[in-house]
Amino acid sequence: MTRTAALERISRLPVDAQANVVCENNLKYMRRLDDESMQLIVTSPPYNIGKEYERRTSLDCYIEEQAACIAQAVRVLHPSGSICWQVGNHVDNGEVFPLDIILYDLFKNHGLRLRNRIVWTFGHGLHCSKRLSGRHETILWFTKTDDYVFNLDPIRVPSKYPNKKHFKGPNKGQLSSNPLGKNPSDVWEIPNVKNNHVEKADHPCQFPVGLVERLVLGLTNEGDSVLDPYVGVGSSAIAALKHDRSAYGCDLEKKYIDTAWERIHELRAGTLRTRPMNKPVYEPPTKGCAT
Ligand SMILES: C[S@@+](CC[C@H](N)C(=O)[O-])C[C@H]1O[C@@H](n2cnc3c(N)ncnc32)[C@H](O)[C@@H]1O
Repeated sequence: MTRTAALERISRLPVDAQANVVCENNLKYMRRLDDESMQLIVTSPPYNIGKEYERRTSLDCYIEEQAACIAQAVRVLHPSGSICWQVGNHVDNGEVFPLDIILYDLFKNHGLRLRNRIVWTFGHGLHCSKRLSGRHETILWFTKTDDYVFNLDPIRVPSKYPNKKHFKGPNKGQLSSNPLGKNPSDVWEIPNVKNNHVEKADHPCQFPVGLVERLVLGLTNEGDSVLDPYVGVGSSAIAALKHDRSAYGCDLEKKYIDTAWERIHELRAGTLRTRPMNKPVYEPPTKGCAT
């Protein structure tokens, strides 16, 4: 075998010590995973809206498929672990069906507890003419028990007034806000991955790595395992590996898995470009006001 062929083979390995990212149906893939082996399951499933990677079906059939995937996710979730299901709307004939509302009961039926419904807001998307243009999606964050991992410090964001001090009382003169920054809240403004985004790959619906990094850092510890059962081009795997967690994921489309592996290799080579997790959203300068 030539050196190039050998290298090509290595770069196509579906599994290595930290990354297990393969082209496979998620039910088949998850059935092989051990009970309670994953600390975080973070994903964005198809919305049943006819994207290139999905076959549009009835809403009932879609919910049944989601229920089967969620049941496996709950089985492999560690007792101190979290599930984050990132969804938008299913749309049928102009009518909007918010998937977080529709899927909520599927998680509750397994006894999971909702910790936050995070609103992810972004500036770009379709311009609607018969309803308001959609500029947010949500992440349902559930835990399996009340004893769950939550690390606030690594995901704090800069305070608006970091030098503000208590002006009376026993702490007068001392800083009133945490010097490490503030809680990022349950509304996250992070640009979505459109054509001019540094992370844009050959996938119509990637989520930004920074969005997943916040969940990985907040809800897992180093060395933990993170699973994405609809991994696409590997954004969650990148977020996990970037912070020394193990990445598990699968997707039905081989071309997405090939891209996921290319991105993993670029990450390891130090050449992958991702948008920094807490980079503020660009605000165009305001014009001076005439008084
Ligand atoms: C919304 S996309 C996820 C994109 C991903 N978050 C990323 O950043 O690349 C949903 C993905 O689920 C995959 N998919 C759909 N049904 C699947 C199944 N039964 N098993 C595995 N993957 C599936 C699709 O091919 C698609 O890439």
